[in-house]
Amino acid sequence: MSEFLTIENLKVHYPIRSGFFNRITDHVYAVDGVNLSFESGKTYGLVGESGSGKSTIGKAIIGLEKLTEGRIIYEGQDVSNSATSRRSEYRRNVQMIFQDSLSSFNPKKRIIDILAEPMRNFSNMTSDEEKRKSIELLEIVGLTEEALHKYPHEFSGGQRQRIGVARAVALNPKLVIADEPVSALDLSVQAQVLNFMQRIQDEFGVSYLFISHDLGVVKHMSDEIAIMYHGRFTEYGTNQEIYSNPLHIYTRRLLSAIPQVDPNNREQNKINRLRVEKEYREEASQYFDGEGKVYDLQKVNEDHYVALKDIPTPVEGGIR
Ligand SMILES: Nc1ncnc2c1ncn2[C@@H]1O[C@H](COP(=O)(O)OP(=O)(O)O)[C@@H](O)[C@H]1O
Ligand SMILES: [Mg+2]
Repeated sequence: MSEFLTIENLKVHYPIRSGFFNRITDHVYAVDGVNLSFESGKTYGLVGESGSGKSTIGKAIIGLEKLTEGRIIYEGQDVSNSATSRRSEYRRNVQMIFQDSLSSFNPKKRIIDILAEPMRNFSNMTSDEEKRKSIELLEIVGLTEEALHKYPHEFSGGQRQRIGVARAVALNPKLVIADEPVSALDLSVQAQVLNFMQRIQDEFGVSYLFISHDLGVVKHMSDEIAIMYHGRFTEYGTNQEIYSNPLHIYTRRLLSAIPQVDPNNREQNKINRLRVEKEYREEASQYFDGEGKVYDLQKVNEDHYVALKDIPTPVEGGIR
């Protein structure tokens, strides 16, 4: 098992200021003690409701957010403080895609300049090599050379996001953090972008931290899944374990809320959802401490961790 990146006890707390003197009166515990390790060629899904701290984890890893506590270890080196994480070796190998990644670029720049920017920052390519590489990248995401001299606004949302993916993988990074990469797109276009991401992974062995509030998309993409609630993980495990044997009431609640497309299952899904909601109201105190905080993760088995006070005993049929 080779982990190239490890996040240890990550905390990001934002100060809340108030009053006439604008003093710090409290903190938002956006991320509050998260551990995560990345191996090559795998997709790690990160799900949770809006405001649970998903983007903050991504930003902390990429170095856009200062750690309040914890460490980030890349290839055996501590890159926790942003001065070191800005070292080019790390910056080159950990890239990010946002919901509309091209909108973060100068709209007056042509695609060639957008694609070549990482090459200019991190390599010594000639402009011919940059051009050849850019064409290669466009082809990887199903576009042609013609795109090179166009501007971002000349593309559809799906195409722009594909270019964003191409740019992120331009220099063969080890990890791409994809924060809601398809959430702004129509369903049919989502599938296309996700397929390109998967093909790129098959070919180049990149890992993804795939952040989404959409459990359906995360299930489709991820090898491992972390469920996040109020800055902490309620559950972590392989795709198979999380979806077939969810142990935390919050995970079950999220899973029961996935819309059921099959009309034959809709009624059953509604019954399940109501049952889980009832359990959530009645049993939440078993899953959250006196202050409503999620417990530390406990090992259920090699492939499954859950945040409970005590380690659960496996029972016939899965749950509880
Ligand atoms: N710069 C900031 N200052 C203060 N609070 C912030 C800041 N950024 C995010 N937060 C808060 O941190 C929490 C987690 O936010 P975020 O990581 O964006 O969640 P998610 O991506 O899961 O929706 C939220 O309560 C959010 O309001
Ligand atoms: Mg977010």
